[in-house]
Order: sequence, then C-alpha cells, then structure tokens
Amino acid sequence: MNPKTPALLLAATLVLAGTTQAAEFKKPTPDVLPSIQLDRSLLFPSKADIAEGKVLATEQCIDCHSATGIEDDPEMPHLAGQHVLYLYSELQAYKKKLRQNEDMSKSVQFLSDDAMRKVSAYYSGQIRGVPAATTASSEPAAAVSDPVELGKKASASCGGCHGPDGNSKMPGMPNLTSQPLEYFAIAMRHYKSGGRPGMMSGFAAPIDDQTVKNLSLYFGLQPPKGTSNVGKGDVEAGRTAAGACSTCHGEDGNVVGPELPTLAGQDATYLAAAINAYAKGPRDHAQMKAATESLSADDINNLASFYAQQEPIPRKIHKPATVADWIERCNRCHGEDGNSADPRMPSLAGQNRAYLERVLTLYSEGKRNNSMMSAMAGPLNEAERAALAAHYAAQTPRSILYVELPCEPTPAK
Ligand code: HEC
Ligand code: HEC
Ligand code: HEC
Ligand code: HEC
Repeated sequence: MNPKTPALLLAATLVLAGTTQAAEFKKPTPDVLPSIQLDRSLLFPSKADIAEGKVLATEQCIDCHSATGIEDDPEMPHLAGQHVLYLYSELQAYKKKLRQNEDMSKSVQFLSDDAMRKVSAYYSGQIRGVPAATTASSEPAAAVSDPVELGKKASASCGGCHGPDGNSKMPGMPNLTSQPLEYFAIAMRHYKSGGRPGMMSGFAAPIDDQTVKNLSLYFGLQPPKGTSNVGKGDVEAGRTAAGACSTCHGEDGNVVGPELPTLAGQDATYLAAAINAYAKGPRDHAQMKAATESLSADDINNLASFYAQQEPIPRKIHKPATVADWIERCNRCHGEDGNSADPRMPSLAGQNRAYLERVLTLYSEGKRNNSMMSAMAGPLNEAERAALAAHYAAQTPRSILYVELPCEPTPAK
C-alpha cells in the first residue's frame, strides 16, 4: 500500500495525525475487542484493497447491509462511514463468538483476515447520510429530561393533599419529604397491591415504577418543613415510649436505613392513624404489628406528638444524571455529536435509531459484552436508552480523513 494516497476518501472535516495518535493507542478492552494494535494498513488501505472489498461485499453482505452500507431496516446497523478499525474488530468479535449474532457468525465464519480488512475498508469508505425515516421519527433528547423535573410534573396531582413541595398543610395528610426513596416506593407498592387500602390506592394504581422513582426524587429533594399539627399527646412520655422504636426508626424518628419511614416532623394525626392501622388493620406488616399491638390509645398519641415535634433531617440524595449529562459522557468516547475521532470507537451519529436502542439494551442486559459499555449502559433505563438512541440517530454524520504526517519516529507496526 502507498501511504501517500490515503484511501478513506471522504470529505475531510477532521484530520488526525497518525503519529501522535499512535502513542496514545492502548489495547482495546480485552473482553470483546480483539487486541488490535494501531494497524496502519487498516487505516490506509489501497484502492485495490477497497475494490476487492467491494466485490466481497457485493457477494456476501449486500442482502443484509446493502451495497452502500446504508440499511433501511431500522433494526440493522449502517456500516457506511464507520471507522474501519471498528468494523474490522467487530467482524473479528463475531468470528470469535465474542459478539453473538447468528446471521453475522454465519457470514464471517469463512472470511479470512485479509477479506475482513478489505470489506471493512470498503464499507468504511461509503458515505453515511441520514435516512429520512430516522430523522422523521426522532424526538429530541429533551423529551426525556431531568428525572427530578419529570417528578415535579407528575407531582401536580399530589400537591392538593400533600402540599406542592410534599410538605402538607392539611391535618391528617402525611408529608412526603425526608422519606428514603426506597420507602417511598414500598409505600406506593402497598397502595397499588391493596396492602394499604384507601383513597391512595386509586392514585397509585396508574403510576409506573419509573414515575414513582421520579416522584420520590422530587419530593426527597424538597427541604422538609416538619408539621404544625403536633397533636395533644405528652411529648416526654412519648420520648420514653419511643425507646422501643428507635432501633428501626432512629432515636428521633430520622431513619438511617433505606426501607424504613422517617417519622420526625410527620403530621401527628397521620402518625396516630398509621400506628392504629398497623395495630388493628388494615395495614398488614408483621414487625409493625408486633411493635404496636399492645400500645394504649394514650401511648399512641404520646408517640405521635413526640415524633411530630422532632426536626426532620433532609435526606442525602444524589441527583441522578439527566440525558444531557449522559450525552456529555458518551461523547467523551464517541466524539462530539457521536462523530468519533478515535478510530477504535464506533461513530454513533446518524446510526439507525432502533439499532442503537437495541444494542444499548444488549449491553445493559449483559448480552453484548464490553467493559466500558456495560458500565455505561448498566444504569440506563428504557426511556433514557430510547432518548440517547434518538439523539445520536438524529446527529449529522461527518466523515473523518486520516492523514499521515511526514515525521515518523517509529513505524507503528
Ligand atoms: C443475513 C444477514 C447478514 C449478512 C449476510 C451480513 N450481516 Fe452483518 N449484521 C447483520 C445483523 C443482524 C447485524 C447486527 C447484529 C448484532 O446486533 O450484533 C450485523 C452487524 C454487522 C456489523 C456490526 C456493526 C456495528 O455497528 O457494530 C458489521 C461490522 C457487519 N455486520 C459486517 C458485515 C459484513 C462485512 C458482511 C459480509 C461479509 C455482513 N455483515 C453480512 C446481518 C448480516
Ligand atoms: C386526595 C388526597 C390525596 C392525593 C391527591 C394524594 N394523596 Fe397520597 N396520601 C393521602 C392520604 C390520606 C395518605 C395516607 C393514607 C394511609 O393512611 O395509608 C397518603 C399517603 C401517601 C404516601 C405514604 C406516605 C407514608 O409516609 O407512608 C405516599 C408515598 C403518597 N401518599 C404519595 C402520593 C403521591 C405520589 C400522590 C400523587 C400522585 C398522592 N399521594 C396523591 C392522600 C392523597
Ligand atoms: C423492627 C423494626 C421496627 C420497629 C421496632 C418499629 N417499626 Fe415502625 N415501621 C417499621 C417498618 C419496616 C415500617 C414500614 C412498614 C410498611 O411497609 O408499611 C414501619 C412503619 C411505621 C409507621 C408508618 C409511617 C408512615 O409514614 O406511614 C409508623 C408511624 C411507625 N412505624 C411507628 C412505629 C412506632 C411508634 C414504633 C415503636 C412503638 C415502631 N414503629 C417500631 C419497622 C419498625
Ligand atoms: C469509556 C468509553 C465509552 C463511553 C464513555 C461510552 N462508550 Fe459506547 N462504546 C465504547 C466502545 C469501546 C464500544 C465498542 C464496544 C464493542 O465492541 O462492543 C462502544 C459501543 C457503543 C455502541 C455500539 C455501536 C455499534 O455500532 O454497535 C453504542 C450504541 C454505544 N457505544 C453507545 C454509547 C452511549 C449511548 C454512551 C453514553 C451513555 C456510551 N456509548 C459511552 C466506548 C464508550
């Protein structure tokens, strides 16, 4: 091959210096990517290599990937304009069964290393456009925005009883601030399943798990204001009685564990009603029944007044990443707008949306393995995966031209 005719012949928008990059190339993750050193013959194929690659593609790949590497089937990846090193490494991964796909294992099983290089060079040199179908169906990533904002939106129907910020002003209504996220979810599940019958069952029934999470985040991040409805119990007698409760609910009703409710600063009427509901039904909970069934009416009022007067401590809650935060992280490896400048990192810009969503799900379920991507995709939920896929599918792909600089201290091979 002739290094003076670099053959990734597309419009140059980014120029990488082969020599300076070479020093930075570390081995790709050993788990899936075959260990490809910076291989200059891959980055700079000759015209003859590409022509041979085209013949191969026409014979063996076009039924599924088309001759241009642009696929109308949204579940399929575009190959056009993808980094040659990435395409080649994935072909190797299929051949070695490190990446599982039946169609692809069959397609590569008899391909020689040389053939893989050439067919990769051919598809890499094709121009990736944005197919109309992809752009038309893409929603902006902002459609799934900050989970806290989504929680705030969903809380509109709760504010009438629980207060717009989860600090209730209506006697008998519980505050929702300073509850552990996990407890909030448990309580909502009780209402949904009928374990806590009453009017909340109707409100909780249509709310899905993700929305429950968003709601718990929103309320959990609001500063707790305690309650002015402290009842008429004897606070000191309540403090003494609360000794029996402290292992689970904390000395002052501020819980430490995730699955227990905070009692500090909670409405006294609500506390008394809840204790009664465990002691006599309908709340069904063995530990709480055991803790409350022998309490007298006075005991219950004293406990309620004691806890109502304690100061609730705001929960330490980490705000989860928004889709915009995720995009910024993904771009660190996949390039600005998903146009990767690192030849080992696949470009995502203009890729088929359904394909992106599908592979993100594969990574998050551990069905496609790569240590970097599993770590990234693991925490994403379905809505976030869909938003990220839509975002990258809608980005305009740019082509990258590798140019060799004259000064080369050591050949990279
Ligand atoms: C019978 C259909 C079929 C044929 C023939 C086929 N492929 Fe594929 N190819 C697929 C499918 C399906 C996927 C997505 C698989 C997955 O999710 O891992 C894929 C994925 C790929 C990928 C991974 C793309 C990415 O973005 O990670 C590459 C590279 C590829 N094919 C190259 C080829 C080449 C080169 C040929 C011809 C030698 C070929 N394929 C023939 C169906 C096919
Ligand atoms: C019409 C008034 C009303 C509305 C509207 C309402 N709630 Fe409630 N909520 C209550 C009452 C009353 C209780 C106490 C029920 C009980 O004793 O279990 C409660 C209890 C709760 C609890 C349990 C608190 C704890 O400390 O165990 C949660 C969580 C909750 N509501 C969330 C919500 C959310 C989220 C919404 C909006 C989607 C909402 N509620 C809307 C009246 C309401
Ligand atoms: C062994 C641990 C344990 C002990 C001891 C215990 N609790 Fe609880 N408590 C729980 C758990 C767990 C829940 C949540 C139950 C559920 O899911 O409905 C709870 C719930 C409650 C609630 C409902 C809060 C709300 O927001 O709806 C009140 C009130 C309460 N406990 C008061 C008490 C009092 C008063 C005592 C002492 C007399 C006590 N608990 C002792 C574990 C305990
Ligand atoms: C630390 C670097 C890194 C980060 C950060 C990263 N990725 Fe990746 N990504 C990779 C590597 C390496 C691969 C190729 C892995 C393989 O062969 O399976 C990849 C592959 C992918 C693929 C498959 C591409 C294809 O054509 O099949 C998708 C989709 C993807 N990443 C999306 C994302 C998204 C979305 C994020 C942000 C949530 C992200 N990545 C963050 C390194 C990273």
